[in-house]
Amino acid sequence: MSSSLARRLRDPLALPVIVAPMFLVSGPELVVASCRAGVMGSIPTQNARTFEQLDAWIGQIKDGIADLPDPRWAVSMIVHKTYERFDAELALMTERRPDVVITALGSPARVADAVHGYGGAVFADVMSVEHARKAADAGADGLVLVCHGAGGHTGRYSAFAMVDEVRAFFDGPLVVGGAVSTGRGVLAVEALGADLAYMGTRYIACPESMVGARYRELLVQADITGVTATAAVTGVLCSWLSDSLAEAGYDAQALTAAGQVDFSDVHGENKPWKDIFGAGQGVGAIAAVETVEAVTQQLLGEYREALDGVSGRSAALSV
Ligand SMILES: Cc1cc2nc3c(=O)[nH]c(=O)nc-3n(C[C@H](O)[C@H](O)[C@H](O)COP(=O)(O)O)c2cc1C
Repeated sequence: MSSSLARRLRDPLALPVIVAPMFLVSGPELVVASCRAGVMGSIPTQNARTFEQLDAWIGQIKDGIADLPDPRWAVSMIVHKTYERFDAELALMTERRPDVVITALGSPARVADAVHGYGGAVFADVMSVEHARKAADAGADGLVLVCHGAGGHTGRYSAFAMVDEVRAFFDGPLVVGGAVSTGRGVLAVEALGADLAYMGTRYIACPESMVGARYRELLVQADITGVTATAAVTGVLCSWLSDSLAEAGYDAQALTAAGQVDFSDVHGENKPWKDIFGAGQGVGAIAAVETVEAVTQQLLGEYREALDGVSGRSAALSV
């Protein structure tokens, strides 16, 4: 049974999907296109190089969705004590009022009063049950469980186990990410007991994202065998396109074998995230570079088909 907040955020959407915030990928065009396609768009605020640029981007988002009857959009904010733009960004959010502020790298309590003050919701991005509990105790309205198979900073735990464990103590809105790349996956997230799917990788190749042509090309070519999860590049476990690791000079095989590679040069010519491309295990669903609208329509078709299949089996059970 969904909470009233979950219903408020999800019901206006064509599909229960948040296009997840992605470093160097998500910009205002992706957010606007997501909202216009009927899903929730988002950006990580740190994608804007300066505060002035962030202000302009948020203006662009607001203008781009102004004619929509009931759009939903979100930002993710770094809430760590060392993040120097924190106060200015929080003040901007109270003025511009995203429906959801997703907190990363710190306690959601830091933004709670300000966001609740304008009627917004605070969701915390978590990767373990322990973090989920802490975030819930700190007053997060919703939790984003980043599970195994996710692109970028990836979770270690299966969504199947995580949702059940978190649902044992949390009945607010739950969002689940990690290799959800089809409409069937979106329905599966709901079947697990969560409210919304968090989809990053599936939308990176869309022309509305900020990535370059080579990244798009590799996404179209890759499948599940083409991603490597390693902590070696940034110090935290991240899922990357293996071909981009190879092009940056890494031996993908060696990256998976602990202790065999010297990574001291990684911050030299080949800066992580700029030249090494993040992607999750669901990358095989990307067969072409298609617009956000086309991807979302495909997801909707897959979702409906899966729902029909499940409903058919449910009818069979009741005879
Ligand atoms: C290239 C890339 C960059 C990402 N950057 C961020 C980020 O800056 N902040 C964040 O909270 N999550 C980031 N993520 C994680 C996503 O928000 C989301 O958890 C993930 O994409 C979901 O898994 P999926 O890629 O399998 O759909 C990133 C993911 C990718 C693929």
